[in-house]
Amino acid sequence: MLKHDILIIGGGLAGLRAAIEIKGKADVAIICKTYPNQAHSSEAQGGINAAINPSDNWVDHAYDTALGGDFLNDQDAVEKLCSDAPRVIKEMEEFGVCFSKDEKGNIAQRPFGAQRFIRTAYAADRTGHALLHTVYKKAIELGVQIYNEHFVTSLIVEGDRVAGATVMNLANGEIIPIAAKAVIMASGGAGRVYGKTTNPANTGDGIAMAYRAGAGIMDMEIVQFHPTTLKGSNKLLSEAARGEGAYLINSSGERFMKKYAPHKMELASRDVVTRAEATEIKEGRGVLGDSVYLDFRHLDPEVIATRLPDIKRNALELVGIDITKSPVPVQPGQHYTMGGIMTDIECRTELSGLFAAGECACVSVHGANRLGGNSLMETLVFGRQAGESALNHIKGKNFGAVGDKEIREIENKAKTWMGEKDERTPRTIRNELGHVMDEMVGPFRNKEMLKEARDRVQKLRKEKIGVSEHGKIFNAELVNAFELDFMLDLASCTIESALERKESRGAHTRTDYPKRDDTNWLKHIVCNKSESGPTLKYRAVKITRFEPVAREY
Ligand code: FUM
Repeated sequence: MLKHDILIIGGGLAGLRAAIEIKGKADVAIICKTYPNQAHSSEAQGGINAAINPSDNWVDHAYDTALGGDFLNDQDAVEKLCSDAPRVIKEMEEFGVCFSKDEKGNIAQRPFGAQRFIRTAYAADRTGHALLHTVYKKAIELGVQIYNEHFVTSLIVEGDRVAGATVMNLANGEIIPIAAKAVIMASGGAGRVYGKTTNPANTGDGIAMAYRAGAGIMDMEIVQFHPTTLKGSNKLLSEAARGEGAYLINSSGERFMKKYAPHKMELASRDVVTRAEATEIKEGRGVLGDSVYLDFRHLDPEVIATRLPDIKRNALELVGIDITKSPVPVQPGQHYTMGGIMTDIECRTELSGLFAAGECACVSVHGANRLGGNSLMETLVFGRQAGESALNHIKGKNFGAVGDKEIREIENKAKTWMGEKDERTPRTIRNELGHVMDEMVGPFRNKEMLKEARDRVQKLRKEKIGVSEHGKIFNAELVNAFELDFMLDLASCTIESALERKESRGAHTRTDYPKRDDTNWLKHIVCNKSESGPTLKYRAVKITRFEPVAREY
């Protein structure tokens, strides 16, 4: 049987950085559904936040993060993120990341939303891409073992500890157990639960597996919608655009952000800009039915060519628009899962032997609204931490008994789906799920919408999933069935938590409870699995140095 001291599920930035921490000190392997260079880490393109300018300081970065998160953040996590950030930038330079430079040769930084300082370091508009490829190369140089094109189907729990995972080798369809003394979940978010999302393939597998294994998942009602995703494909048009001066206009050519955030305008926090766009569209001032325009025409073409080359190329290739000549239609799209597997600042979950880092985790650094540029930093700070914590955990530990039972369970599930008659394909059910989540669990919600979403998702859950493709080699339809099964669990957690939170905070806007309510709701909602669906409990928010104040941009 395959065994590794530490098994990392997910080959994006968090998983790779964890592996680099462990390599040479313990036997480590990464399992990756596709390949590391396809991870969602590369969809955070505009930059990475760190107080590296001598006139800036990490406490200000921490304050902006807490304010931006509408004070739902755990401030011990925020302090860790922001105080470690300058070290991480230095480390990334040493690894070989080619950051853009200013005229003095220092790492260039650009303005990003909801920050009071120009704090976002970048590599043109390909920052996530540059970081991911550099850290991947480093992991390869160190000889980290990576199981590419392997799909994890469940965690193996022995008594009260996680002892490994069941894994499908996509090349031959074989499902095998892998034993581990510790597992690090670094599998990314759950954006694909929505129809309109920037996420390439993030179906929340790891979050759902941890939930099924008994770990609490937290803040699932808090979902980030990015204000500038391209109409049609929802391809991300990075916040770098607005950082470099592009602005938003409605059908009358008006810069509507002046009504919603007169000081910060297009660089208000993402939730504020998203709601402003959604309001313009709803009230009939949108363009092409469901969008607004992002306008670059006033920018120096040299700035576009050197700092926003991917945006220029994507607009041209995907919708045939030359951004130097015409504005581009954009709309809000799901971008980031702020909730996830509940962890402490050492990345420990509620389950012994299970650690989590990156977007699948909820260390609660982002609160109710993440600042653009903080997710890349989170993957690197907490990816490293997860590696260190897992190393400490395995000292003196043995492998658990990992057997046939778990494999049989997964094989039976697959057989049932393949044997269904009158079935609906995973793709059809998934499209319907995405539609329900877009329409009823989007930037604006209320009790009626959420109850309707609950009913619709419960109905989808009862439908028989049918897999008509019976081949063993790269059976994508079977993988889609497993993914859908995970996503239905997570959609329920998001809906139940959104119904429960009777206030508006950050990205969670309840039209029937339009105000933030610190008296009753300055607390996290945690979902645990039960036979009848998620059961909810509360966890206090950790406040260390910033008392909650009202947000104004
Ligand atoms: O718009 C962006 O470049 C996204 C950045 C992020 O999500 O951190």
